[in-house]
Amino acid sequence: MTYANSRIPISAQQGAHTNLARRLERHLAAPFRKPYAECNVRAFEASLEGWDRSAPLILDAGCGVGHSTIQLARANPDHWVIGVDQSEDRLQRRKPYPEAMMPRNLVFVRADLVDYWRLWCEAGLRAARHYILYPNPWPKIGHLARRWHGHPVFPFIARVGGVLECRSNWSVYIDEFACALEATTGRAVAWSSFEPGEPLTPFERKYRDSGQVLYRVVCDLDAADDRDGLAA
Ligand SMILES: C[S@@+](CC[C@H](N)C(=O)[O-])C[C@H]1O[C@@H](n2cnc3c(N)ncnc32)[C@H](O)[C@@H]1O
Repeated sequence: MTYANSRIPISAQQGAHTNLARRLERHLAAPFRKPYAECNVRAFEASLEGWDRSAPLILDAGCGVGHSTIQLARANPDHWVIGVDQSEDRLQRRKPYPEAMMPRNLVFVRADLVDYWRLWCEAGLRAARHYILYPNPWPKIGHLARRWHGHPVFPFIARVGGVLECRSNWSVYIDEFACALEATTGRAVAWSSFEPGEPLTPFERKYRDSGQVLYRVVCDLDAADDRDGLAA
C-alpha cells in the first residue's frame, strides 16, 4: 500500500553546498591514506578472480540487491560486471534469481567502497563503465562529508575510469556531484533530469512509480572533453 509514495529527500539545502569546493580542494591536495581493511582486500581480489583480464569492466558501486548488476551483465555479455555493496543482507536478497539463470559474467562482493575504489586505482584498473545508482543522499546540511563527492575518497572515484554515471532523485546531489567532477577533471560536466525506461534498480522503480523526477550525471572520464554533455 505504501509502495508508490516515496518522497524526494527533504533538505534545508536548496543548491550546491557552499563548503563543497573547499572540501574538495583539501581532498585533492592531500591523498587519502587510511589503511585498508583485510576483508576489503580479500573482496577486491575475489571480484577479479573470474575475470579473464581482457573483458572490459563494469563497476556497479553500491549495487544493493544487485538487480542493476544482473541487468548490466545480461546487456553486456562480453563485459565482466562487478557489483559491490557493504550490506550482506542486501546482496543476499538477489537470491530469488535462480543460480542457473544468473549471468556468468558477473560477481558480487561485499566490501566498503571507500577501500574498494582505492584498491582499484592502486591496481591500475580502468573501468569501461562505472555506475553509482541512487547513493544514500544524506540530505542534511551537516552531512556533506557523507555524500560521495564530499568524502575524501572522491578523487579515487574520478580515477576509476570509463563512463561514470550517477543517478539520484535529489537534484542537489547530482548538481554537487557534477561540480565535484568538474573540479577534479578540469572539464565541463553536464547533468539533467531523465526519463528512465525499464528501471535499472528497485530504487529507480520506486521513485518512478511515485512520479518523481530523476536526475543523472554522465561523464566519460576517458574522453578528451565532455563539453557536449550527456551520453545517450
Ligand atoms: C540507496 S541504496 C541504492 C541501492 C541500489 N543502487 C539501488 O538503486 O537500488 C545505497 C546502497 O549503497 C550501499 N553503500 C552505502 N555506503 C557504502 C559503502 N561505503 N560501501 C559499499 N556500499 C555502500 C548501501 O548498502 C546501499 O545498498
